[in-house]
Amino acid sequence: MALPSCAMPDPAMSTPRQQRWPAWEGQALIVGPGGIGAALAVELARRAPGLRVLTAGRRHADLPLDLVEDASLARLAATAAAELSPLRIVIHAAGLLHDGGIQPEKRLSQVRRAALERSFAVNAYGPLLLAQAIEPALPKDRPVHFASLSARVGSIGDNRLGGWYAYRAAKAAQNQLLRTLAIEWQRRLPLACVTLLHPGTTATPLSAPYRGSVPAAGLFTPERAAAHLLDVLETRTPETSGSFLAWDGSTVPW
Ligand SMILES: NC(=O)c1ccc[n+]([C@@H]2O[C@H](COP(=O)([O-])OP(=O)(O)OC[C@H]3O[C@@H](n4cnc5c(N)ncnc54)[C@H](OP(=O)(O)O)[C@@H]3O)[C@@H](O)[C@H]2O)c1
Repeated sequence: MALPSCAMPDPAMSTPRQQRWPAWEGQALIVGPGGIGAALAVELARRAPGLRVLTAGRRHADLPLDLVEDASLARLAATAAAELSPLRIVIHAAGLLHDGGIQPEKRLSQVRRAALERSFAVNAYGPLLLAQAIEPALPKDRPVHFASLSARVGSIGDNRLGGWYAYRAAKAAQNQLLRTLAIEWQRRLPLACVTLLHPGTTATPLSAPYRGSVPAAGLFTPERAAAHLLDVLETRTPETSGSFLAWDGSTVPW
């Protein structure tokens, strides 16, 4: 049997993977247009003028979406199938750390089943069910990015401080769910790249109560965080799918 020649270009490896975002055409979707999500939508539209960038969320969004409501996800799925193909870039930027009902736990006695379930519903199940909803709009013949904001505190290997049980565990679960998705899509959507991103501490409502000890130089504006994250994402290829990366491109331990 003849071995493939190294000199022969593989058609599947040629132009589509090499195109930069300014040449990309189709749609993009940012889910969760909060502090970082809204900045990502603006910056992505600037970098990829051939993409129509839409947002989805509970407020201030082009498309209504509540990640914890199956009927809402089903409506997004119908819209995606009918109107969003080809969907080239999807970034899940929704997240829940605290609200009127839940606060991050400092100790075991503060752990509540309801808070664990709510955190997992948004931070872990949310991005996976989003992927399921939009999958039919993803093209098979062109590169696709599916990225989701994780958090360094979701790293099990890097957990030195403890606390924040629900948020940490939900982000760790997200990482496992999307790593598993990356492996499935390598078979079914070989031009898709799944990436988990830690944005760094960023001045948004999510971090507001907890960033007192962060020096000003280490606190990003949402615009700066968005620029970092898109810099990292733009370098990723399908061969690197399933990575967990920080804002500076460094690998975060699982
Ligand atoms: N800021 C940081 O320092 C930091 C650090 C590490 C990781 N992250 C991660 O980065 C991502 C973005 O956070 P952010 O700082 O931009 O926070 P943010 O400003 O609070 O935005 C969070 C977004 O998530 C949305 N969301 C929450 N629950 C939802 C649901 N059930 N359905 C749909 N959308 C929902 C919120 O919508 P509503 O406005 O409707 O509530 C909001 O748009 C999160 O995944 C977060 O965990 C942030």
